[in-house]
Amino acid sequence: MTKKSYNAEQLQDLVLQMMETELGGEQVYLAALQCAQNADLKKEWQGYLEETRMHQRTVRTLCEALGMDASAQTPSRKVVKHLGDSLVQAMQLALKSGTPTAAELTACECVVLAETKDHANWELLGQVAQAASGATAKALQDAYDKVQQDEQHHLYHTMGWCRELWIQSLGMPAVLPPPEEIKQVETAIGASRAEQQRTTLL
Ligand SMILES: [Fe+2]
Ligand SMILES: [Fe+2]
Repeated sequence: MTKKSYNAEQLQDLVLQMMETELGGEQVYLAALQCAQNADLKKEWQGYLEETRMHQRTVRTLCEALGMDASAQTPSRKVVKHLGDSLVQAMQLALKSGTPTAAELTACECVVLAETKDHANWELLGQVAQAASGATAKALQDAYDKVQQDEQHHLYHTMGWCRELWIQSLGMPAVLPPPEEIKQVETAIGASRAEQQRTTLL
């Protein structure tokens, strides 16, 4: 099978955005943990915080393998930082001005937003790994293999928490921990199935 071509400059931009996403992710989880009320959710996010720190190390190792400076700044990286800072500020605002329940919901939404970007970054990196060849392909694939499953959990499980805690706040029966957690969802299709079948778990 012939390899697809890809834009090497845009790959570098993606990797630097990934570095910033993982750095910002740490700050997002530190703030989210202050907002979390549910003990299971707290435990879950504590684990995701540790994994996010591991992802920072994985991206740094990838940068070295690609001969890149992990601290290099680009316009798009600044935008990623701005978005991450904004999510932290939103949670601080919720903590200061609203109820604990409202702050927890805000934190869930902020984590989903942060993890949507994080998940997309790694999926894109996996795509380039397929198109690349030689040492570059290996470095990309190694990084992807280490992190990809974590990112499925971070996004899909937190989406489940967000939905069920919202449902609970609306005074309706909620599945807690969410079905995504119980069913160990790892794909978009699995997440959709878990949501469809949630009422069977009530
Ligand atoms: Fe990550
Ligand atoms: Fe993540």
